[in-house]
Amino acid sequence: SSGDHVPVLVVGTGYGGAVTALRLTQAGIPVAMVEMGQSWSTPGSDGKIFCNMLKPDGRAYWLRTETDQPVSYFLGAPYNKSIPSYTGVLDSEHFANTRVYQGRGVGGGSLVNGGMAVVPKRWYFEEILPQVDADAMYNVYYPRANAGLGANSVDPAWYNSASCYQYARVGSSQAGDAGFNTVFVPNVYSFPYMQRELAGSAPRSALASEVIYGNNYGKQSLDKTYLAAAAATGRLSISPLHKVTAVSPAAVGSGYSVTMEQLDTGGNVVAVKTVTADKVFFGAGSVGTSKLLVTMRDTGLLPDLPAAVGQGWGNNGNVMVGRANYLWAPTGGLQACMPVRGIDNWADPTYPCFAEISPFPAGTELWISLYLAITKNPNRATFTYNPGTGGVDLSWQASWTQPSITAAANVFDRINKAEGTIYRTDLFGVYKTWGDDFVYHPLGGCVLGKATDLYGRLPGYPGLYVTDGSLIPGSTGVNPFVTITALAERNIENVIANDFG
Ligand code: FDA
Repeated sequence: SSGDHVPVLVVGTGYGGAVTALRLTQAGIPVAMVEMGQSWSTPGSDGKIFCNMLKPDGRAYWLRTETDQPVSYFLGAPYNKSIPSYTGVLDSEHFANTRVYQGRGVGGGSLVNGGMAVVPKRWYFEEILPQVDADAMYNVYYPRANAGLGANSVDPAWYNSASCYQYARVGSSQAGDAGFNTVFVPNVYSFPYMQRELAGSAPRSALASEVIYGNNYGKQSLDKTYLAAAAATGRLSISPLHKVTAVSPAAVGSGYSVTMEQLDTGGNVVAVKTVTADKVFFGAGSVGTSKLLVTMRDTGLLPDLPAAVGQGWGNNGNVMVGRANYLWAPTGGLQACMPVRGIDNWADPTYPCFAEISPFPAGTELWISLYLAITKNPNRATFTYNPGTGGVDLSWQASWTQPSITAAANVFDRINKAEGTIYRTDLFGVYKTWGDDFVYHPLGGCVLGKATDLYGRLPGYPGLYVTDGSLIPGSTGVNPFVTITALAERNIENVIANDFG
């Protein structure tokens, strides 16, 4: 409530925020979390908490009147449809030249993502974060993160015969035909549960076209792992549908004054509250944390924040592409929405690329192979406060995705050549091959060691910390959430040891 004083306030309930909350509450420190999205614990009129990808409704999107699908076209026609405006689970946040997809709700991105729990190659981690002790990351914090997240691996024997992974087997063998290596990737979705889905003994979720608008069963999202464990300490409180809008030094005494808007499910502000906190952890995600801190610096509420706040944002080299297969290479009408295979061409010295073999969960056979490629794109954008609009702009340019397209084309041109196949040009626009105007993996904006110290402390403001994907300098070489989680584990251990006592 307004006027409250709390020892620790965490902004956002995604990976960084959830790790921070668990380790602090386990250390005996009460934590108040503030989350702009819903708690996603009450079923709708259809008995389900989330809707699926085939029949999106208001639950799908954060305050949009039309869906904004990543694969937004089909056979030359736009594929989006009208929905009621509601505080739904997936936000497609539009900047001038890119759209950034993010989860909204208690659990953040874990509610909407593909669950792929991938540890980057150690040599690449050392390249992106050379100041971080890689021994400690690979021996302690990555294993701790994977355990906390519930990462598990598909049973290869089951995978080989499961109809729902036909698309992944086709994608793997075609990559092999072109000389590329494919690997299994762990996932946080429960594979024992998925086996029961396929056997018909449990309600379907991954096998019912559920993923980017949430999974009703099987997914071990943060609300089931880190946040549940933090709640079990009895020291956690979460305020959903509360959006933090300002943080500044408290007028009286020490600590910080935090202002937030309470929203209704139509997105209307129903109350404005101010609390004070001794310490504030920013876990609002790469975009959320960067926007907040840039605004605070440039409107004079936290004027001493460094210039590096807002800089170093990248899209993890994301680009999506689809290929058309021949009739004799069907990909399956029933597809498991959780990817388990990746094409690993990251060792390529010129065009590193790690491509997840993605489902195309249309519920019917379409002979499409879809991929989300992660590439080493050197371009970095900056967030700037715009006094005219009161919002925050991102300097990303449309042409900056070209290095990602070139690296991905190096892989998929070769696969097409080996198979005698062509790209689908009808999925991302009309005669548009590459899905390059959106991002699943926003990273950076408050880079570790630049905008913060080496553990996420914001310089000049004791008691303010960054704990999420904004710490990572724009690229991880693989899907990012295990790295975000492991880095948060590392940082909070140091902060608890040194800053609480
Ligand atoms: P995250 O975005 O998770 O959490 C931030 C939270 O803060 C959100 O809940 C948000 O609502 C809240 N917030 C923001 N501003 C706020 C404010 N002002 N006040 C209060 N709350 C605020 N990664 C991966 O490793 N494997 C995968 O398979 C996938 N797949 C995938 C698919 C899709 C569709 C998406 C969109 C993303 C992925 N990802 C992924 C990416 C992954 O989900 C992402 O990197 C992490 O969720 C980022 O974790 P953070 O802790 O940085 O923030």
